[in-house]
Amino acid sequence: MDGNGRWAKKRFLPRAAGHKAGVEAVRKTVRAAREMGLECRTLYAFSSENWKRPEQEIADLTGLMKYFIRADLKEFHENNVRLRIIGDYSAFDPEAVALIDEALATTANNTGCTLVIALNYGSQDELVRAASKAAQKGAITAETIAVELDTADLPPLDLLIRTSGEQRLSNFLLWQAAYAELYFTDMLWPDFDGRALAAALDSFAARER
Ligand code: FPP
Repeated sequence: MDGNGRWAKKRFLPRAAGHKAGVEAVRKTVRAAREMGLECRTLYAFSSENWKRPEQEIADLTGLMKYFIRADLKEFHENNVRLRIIGDYSAFDPEAVALIDEALATTANNTGCTLVIALNYGSQDELVRAASKAAQKGAITAETIAVELDTADLPPLDLLIRTSGEQRLSNFLLWQAAYAELYFTDMLWPDFDGRALAAALDSFAARER
């Protein structure tokens, strides 16, 4: 979900306003994905590198996450959405951790689509942890690593979308993206909506797999 800062800058607004608009794009696209029947969707909301951002921006992003859970948990639950987190979210403040725990517990038995939020997530770290665990148990193979990944219980990654014109993976789902289709768009994340998601899916559908 890249481009919140640039979206705000274009409008002479503070970066926080870009992140706030980013949450609205999250809402719109989560709804659209559910209505389109997507089985699983992962949002890269906070990378392990994001701790290097200014303290105020980290506080703004954490505040938005809390707001999002408080405001939307009921809707997720009513729509049978199961929430999952990848990454070590225990690094966030206790209030955020408690809210996330509550959201996970509330939606744990839901059987509709899965919404995964990557928080304090970094793919290289995930791979190191998975390979270490696999080694402790015996042989290191693609299969023994895959079952130790944070995403072990999730379906294979088919399509990876990055907004804002950047064309790199930035430590996101590196292993899982091995056979994924990549979709890059110049659109800034706050402008992304159901139509933009449908365009990405159309592009995916037109590719030979
Ligand atoms: C990248 O844009 C975006 C982020 C680092 C944060 C994404 C977070 C949200 C959309 C809100 C919180 C998430 C949820 C799930 C409620 P950038 O700041 O790097 O933009 P720039 O590259 O234009 O500066």
